[in-house]
Amino acid sequence: MNVEEAIASRYSVRRFLPRPLERATLDAVLVAATQAPSAMNAQPWAFGIVEGVAALQALSDRAKAYLLERLDQYPMLTRYRRILANPEHTVFYDAPALVIIYSRPRGPQPEMDCCLAAMNFMLAAWERGLGTCWIGLAGMLLNDPAVKEEMGVPQDHVAVAPLVIGYPDGETPRVAKEPPVILFHR
Ligand SMILES: Cc1cc2nc3c(=O)[nH]c(=O)nc-3n(C[C@H](O)[C@H](O)[C@H](O)COP(=O)(O)O)c2cc1C
Repeated sequence: MNVEEAIASRYSVRRFLPRPLERATLDAVLVAATQAPSAMNAQPWAFGIVEGVAALQALSDRAKAYLLERLDQYPMLTRYRRILANPEHTVFYDAPALVIIYSRPRGPQPEMDCCLAAMNFMLAAWERGLGTCWIGLAGMLLNDPAVKEEMGVPQDHVAVAPLVIGYPDGETPRVAKEPPVILFHR
């Protein structure tokens, strides 16, 4: 699969096989993330990894409870009230692993740099037959100062990209993408 094929075929995966990730595969995808460009070559990323359905289920329960208590702060998320309140729903879709890309305070735009690392991560995973999904819903909990402390993450780091990763269970049709909106072409 070349880059163009990976870009054209990738989609967010929300159903996973109960198959753990091989360590070498995870390592390779992490290295791909670190090949991203970064402002002033600051390479401001760092990674947190949570593996295992039980650990992720517990983290999901906390993320849902955290958001439900604070939905008034995030009006855009009120449409998710029902799924957040559903004990059967896991925000990590029963994936075998969650990789959190944290920004370290280096360079002028560390969070943007981490988004580029996240895209590399998702495409490199896809090329290896793995699916990923960015779980923004987990970001609020992961950035809570008490949770950072508990996870051993320095307070000046930001959880930018929580990405679940695993082997897809079946296929999902790609969502339609709009054609490019050209604001000017002088
Ligand atoms: C910043 C960001 C946050 C996202 N958060 C979630 C999320 O919490 N849960 C989820 O299921 N998908 C999440 N997604 C995935 C998007 O829903 C998905 O990328 C979008 O619908 C386009 O589909 P595609 O990735 O298959 O092209 C997120 C994506 C991004 C970039």
